[in-house]
Parts: sequence; C-alpha cells; structure tokens
Amino acid sequence: RRSLAAAVAGVTASLLSLTAVNAEAAQTITLGHTLSDSSHYSVGADAFKETLERLSDGEFQVEEHPSGSLGGERAMIEGLQIGTVDVVITSTGPLGNFVPQTYVLDLPFLFKDYKQARCVLDGPIGQDLLDKMGEHNLVGLAWSENGFRHLTNSKRAVKTPEDVKGLKIRTMENKVHMAAFKAMGAHPTPMAFPELFTALQQGTVDGQENPITVIVATKFWEVQNHLSLTGHVYSPAVVLGSPVLLDGLSEEERGWFKQAAEASAKATRDEVTRLEKEGVKLLRDKGMQVETDIDKAPFQEAVQPAYKIYTDEYGSEMLDRIHGSQ
Ligand code: PAF
Repeated sequence: RRSLAAAVAGVTASLLSLTAVNAEAAQTITLGHTLSDSSHYSVGADAFKETLERLSDGEFQVEEHPSGSLGGERAMIEGLQIGTVDVVITSTGPLGNFVPQTYVLDLPFLFKDYKQARCVLDGPIGQDLLDKMGEHNLVGLAWSENGFRHLTNSKRAVKTPEDVKGLKIRTMENKVHMAAFKAMGAHPTPMAFPELFTALQQGTVDGQENPITVIVATKFWEVQNHLSLTGHVYSPAVVLGSPVLLDGLSEEERGWFKQAAEASAKATRDEVTRLEKEGVKLLRDKGMQVETDIDKAPFQEAVQPAYKIYTDEYGSEMLDRIHGSQ
C-alpha cells in the first residue's frame, strides 16, 4: 500500500514538474494599445503576435489588450519603463514627454504625404530617433503608423482657420499640437484618448482631431457631425518594448521582437492605406458632413508659431535634417 502511494506521489510530482516546464517554456507578453479590436492598431497587434509566436516557436505567447484596457498611451509608456507592460503600439502623442527628440515629428504640415513620411521614418532619421528611445528607458522597435490627422467637431463646418476660432478641441497630451491649435485660436484641451468619447458626448469639448482610421474605429460619427479633411499633421505610431523585458533576452530573442514589430508596422500601414480610401465614404454614409476642399495654405500659415516654440526649445537641427532629406 505504501509503495502504491509512493508511486502515485511520484507520478503526480512528475506531472507537476512537466506542467512547470511547459509554463516556463511559454512566456506571456502583454501587448497594449488604445484602439478597438477592429482598428489598424489591432491589425498590427495581430501581426506582431503571429510573427513573434512563429519565430520563437511558441516560447513567447502574446496577449493583446486593445481599447485602452491598460490605460491611455502615456500611462502605457510609463508601464513599459517599469516593466508592467511588455510591448505597446502608440502614437507619438505623449512620447515627447519621455523622448523630447520625437517632438519634431509632431510639427504640423511637416510631411506632405504618406510616401515622404514613411521614407523618413524608415531611413537614418527614423533609426536615430528609435535609438534615442534607448536613452530614455524605452526600446524603440519599429515605426508604425496612425495617419494624417483631420478635424471633427459638433458645432460647424470648418473650412478655414477662422472657423476653428473659439472651438474647444481635444488634443493629445503634446505641447507641439497644443501650440498649433492655440495659434489657430482654438481652446486646446489635452486629454487621454480613453476619456475622449464621453467628453465629446457630454460636450466637455466640441471637437477632436485624428486620422480617418481612428474616426472610423471609434465611431466618432455618433458624437460628431462635421469632418474637415485638414490633414494638418502626420501622426506616426511606434512599436515600443520594455527594457525590463528586452534587456534580459538573448540577441536572437530580441531579433524576433524586432522582426515582429516590423511585421506589425507593415500590416498597420497597409490597413491605413486601405481605410484612407474607404473610410471617408463610410463616414459620409454614417451621416457626417465632410469638407474635402480645404485650402491648406492658411492653416499652414496659422500654425507657424508652433515651429518657433519648437525651435526655440529644441533648436532646428532635426528639422533641417528632415527638410534636407525631402
Ligand atoms: O488621439 C490620440 O490620442 C491617438 O491618435 C490615438 C487615437 C490614441 C491613436 O494613437
């Protein structure tokens, strides 16, 4: 009887240790972003998951947390620094608060089209900025994309900067964007994205600005009736990793994360391209009044003070490099 008990205990112990080995073999990676699970960020998150799990042969299992369930972008970036989040897909909105060198990318009308923006980010300038993130306790894995931002509001059709005057516009927590809207005569109200829908619904703010992709994924037509295709700023996204996780990995493992981030960025950009084509029609069908014929020159003129505020604080070296590369 004693030997049967010993045998059972032995088998149980082996089963337990097998389970422990399996549990150890697969490491769960927490990936967060603020948009819905039908968004371009989710397409990117799926590509990250598929690539990392395939390359690592299951050593890493990615758990996706969309819809700001881990907090707004600023909170998630803080999470990366302390290791409570492993990977984040974020706009550069709050990133300048951590890596000031990235503010340059938030300047309005810096890039004229997607091709130019992607080319700069995929070249030496983009790589230098990714490297800079390493100096601020973050790992820059790849440049991804949010898209050109357009203005929506619930008050009136906006065709000129004059029409923006007096509107309460939610901006990202980004001082360059805030300066640009202030220069147009708006009342910029910085706010984390997860609070935005309710703020628009309750009239705390009149409007917001985001790419077509975001306006579609967040169903802003339910709370905003005017859309103006201002394209006033290109909004990059970036796939960031936590140094707490990545610094402890082998070179090969870090390489898998980098490849997964690059696959994520490609999938996201493809989705942005698709939605840019189809999104405006969808938003019209949902009842939004869309201003397509926007003269950008007066907007460009109106936001010039944002350039001065930026160069006074950070100099013009990065800006000159970007202009020189175009
Ligand atoms: O408006 C923002 O905060 C950003 O564009 C968003 C929607 C979170 C995507 O990065």
